[in-house]
Amino acid sequence: MKQYVVAGPASQFLAVKLAELLDAIVISTEYKKFPDGECYLRLDIDEESVFFEQDVIIVQTTGASAVADQNQRFMELIMMISAAKRLNPAHIRVVVPYLAYSRQDKVFRPGEAIFVEELLKWIEQAGATEFYTVDVHAPKVFEVLNIPAFNLDPMEVLAQTCKNRGLSDPVVICPDKGAFERSRAFARHLGENIPVVQFEKKRDVKTGQITMRGEIDVQGRDVIIADDIIATGGTMARAIQIAKKGGATTIYAVGTHPLLIGNAVVKLISAGTTEIIGTDALDSIAMQASLAETIANALQNRD
Ligand code: R5P
Repeated sequence: MKQYVVAGPASQFLAVKLAELLDAIVISTEYKKFPDGECYLRLDIDEESVFFEQDVIIVQTTGASAVADQNQRFMELIMMISAAKRLNPAHIRVVVPYLAYSRQDKVFRPGEAIFVEELLKWIEQAGATEFYTVDVHAPKVFEVLNIPAFNLDPMEVLAQTCKNRGLSDPVVICPDKGAFERSRAFARHLGENIPVVQFEKKRDVKTGQITMRGEIDVQGRDVIIADDIIATGGTMARAIQIAKKGGATTIYAVGTHPLLIGNAVVKLISAGTTEIIGTDALDSIAMQASLAETIANALQNRD
């Protein structure tokens, strides 16, 4: 069976790297927006028979960027799945490195939808036979799916990237309770007996305002703050300020998904970070650690 990697408009670097590792054929797409704002996408193929009974892997992240928002990225994803399904492949394995709306995973205030669940159902209904994402905010959302779903762990590649910087007496900080397991996994990959310190964060559900409590003595040490998403940078900036006050020499802001919305980069640098380290789940200036191998291994384990 031949393997094809469809390089979604939002994940072109990652898809090409992945195809190289899998020795798969890359399929590009033609995409645009119509004057009324509707999305258009076609798989760039010459013959409709090309995917028949073959293994098709679709790679498309869904983070907002300066080029397109998450809604457009999601529409393109569904169009790719639906177009592939019409061509009767053996499998449609959908890789969404960053799953947009993943933070809308429960009802915080009366009247809300659990919208990420609707999006997952749509991916399945469009024709996905397997679903892969990375460090999803709450893996519990997979429960709505009837197809195999995998939440890949980026902590090893992120820890290795930090280790390559040459760390001195490192301490890992997790900015809130939800990030604790992730930070522990990160610390384990960093080395033996690396301490993990948890801060306490509260976010006002109406205003989004963050308050963070934590005290730490990290005089002369290197601090790594690990989180899943760096969006506005508010959470990370607060944690950096506390680490700075505690005397940290070097502070790495590590996020699997560096969305870096608006002035997030300025916010993090002004707070005192030395470097922002993220993965290529999203194309960004923090794209230091590649997920290509992690994804390739996960796909190969299912072959
Ligand atoms: C929240 O629970 C997440 O794990 C992140 O801490 C949060 O989404 C980061 O958002 P922001 O950068 O806007 O503070």
